[in-house]
Amino acid sequence: MGNGLHQGEVIVAKKNNSEFATHLLNWYDSRRCNFPWRDCNDPYKIYLSEVMLQQTQVATVLPYYKKWIQKFPTIQSVAKATQEQILKQWEGLGYYSRARNFHKSSQIIADSFNGIIPSDPDEFSKLPGVGPYISAAVMSIAFHQPLPAVDANAIRVAARMEMIDLPYPKNSNIIYNYYENHIPIDRPGDFNQAIMDLGREICTAGNLKCSACPVAVFCKALVDNSVDKFPIKVKPPKKPHYDIAVGIVWNKGQILISKRRENGLLGGLWEFPGGKIETGENAQECIIREIKEELGVQVQPTSLLKQIKHAYTHFSITMDAYHCDYLSGSPKALGCDGWKWINPEDIKRLPFPKANHKLFDKLFIEDGIC
Ligand code: ADE
Repeated sequence: MGNGLHQGEVIVAKKNNSEFATHLLNWYDSRRCNFPWRDCNDPYKIYLSEVMLQQTQVATVLPYYKKWIQKFPTIQSVAKATQEQILKQWEGLGYYSRARNFHKSSQIIADSFNGIIPSDPDEFSKLPGVGPYISAAVMSIAFHQPLPAVDANAIRVAARMEMIDLPYPKNSNIIYNYYENHIPIDRPGDFNQAIMDLGREICTAGNLKCSACPVAVFCKALVDNSVDKFPIKVKPPKKPHYDIAVGIVWNKGQILISKRRENGLLGGLWEFPGGKIETGENAQECIIREIKEELGVQVQPTSLLKQIKHAYTHFSITMDAYHCDYLSGSPKALGCDGWKWINPEDIKRLPFPKANHKLFDKLFIEDGIC
C-alpha cells in the first residue's frame, strides 16, 4: 500500500479508532432485538431474512419468515419446490421478483455449490437478485466480512452524522466510504444490524428520537440543529393510477384464470384475465378485448361482481370485476404464461395478487362457496 502500512494494519487502526462503532455496539448489546434470524448462524436463514427485509418492514416480515422456515427449513427444500409453491408462500409480501430470484438462486446453490451458500462475495453476488446490499448484509452477518450494508436506514444515519449535502444516489460513494471507515473487523454483521436498528427505532424518517441516540455526540446535523433536513430529499415521482377491468369467466361451474408473465410486475402470479381500460372503451368492452388478446377466448360480461381500489407500492388501481359467460374458443397462452380452468374452491390454493384477493370474499359469498 502507498502509505507504508500493510492492509491488516490499516484495518486494525480503523477498528480501534472508531469510537462511533464502540458507542453503537454497546447500545446494540444492551437492547438488541432477538429476531429469529439473529444469532442463528445459519447462512440460509440470514440470506432469506435479508431478501424478505429488503423494501419491507420487520413487523410485516416476521410472520412470513416463520411460516416460510416451517415449510422450507433448508435451502435444498426451496430448490426442490415449484415456483407456484414459492409464490404461494410469498403471497402478500410484494415485490415477487425477490421470491422468484431466491428460488432460482437456491437451485443454483443446490446444483453448483453442493447446497452451501458461497462465502466469497464475488461468487455470491453473481446469484440472481443479489445486489450490493444483500451481498454485504449476508457476507457480514453470516461470514463476518467487513462489508457495509447500505440500505435506506444506513443512508439516513450517515447523511445526518456527516451532513451530506447531496441526495441519493449522488451521496452513495460518500456514504459507503463513511461506513468503510467505521465498520469493525471483529463485528461487521452486528455493526450493520445496529445501524439498521438505529435507523428503524431512533434515527427515523419522522418522529426523531435524538435524545435516545447512542451516537448523538457524533452527529453533525444535531449540533447544527438541522437533523430534519437530512438526507436531502428529491420529490418522488407521482404514483400512476390505472383503471382495470377483469372477467370472472364461468364455464360449467369452473373459472378461467391466467398466469402473469414471469418477468413483469407481479410476475408468475395467477389472476382473473383482463387489463387496462383504453380511452373510449368501457369496462365490458375492455374485458371482451383483453380476454380475446390474452387467451383467444370470446366472453360476454353479464353483471358487475365488485369494484375495488387497491394501492400497490408504485401504482394504484381501480378494478371492475365482471362475471362473464364463456362463449367460444379454446384458451391459448397468447399474452400470458399459462391458463387453467379451476373449481372456485381451488382459488385459495394458488398465488394471486392482493387486489384479486379483495374479490374472493364477495365471490365466495355470492356463490355460497364458503
Ligand atoms: N433490515 C434489513 N436487515 C435487517 C436485519 N438483519 N435485522 C433487522 N432489520 C433489518
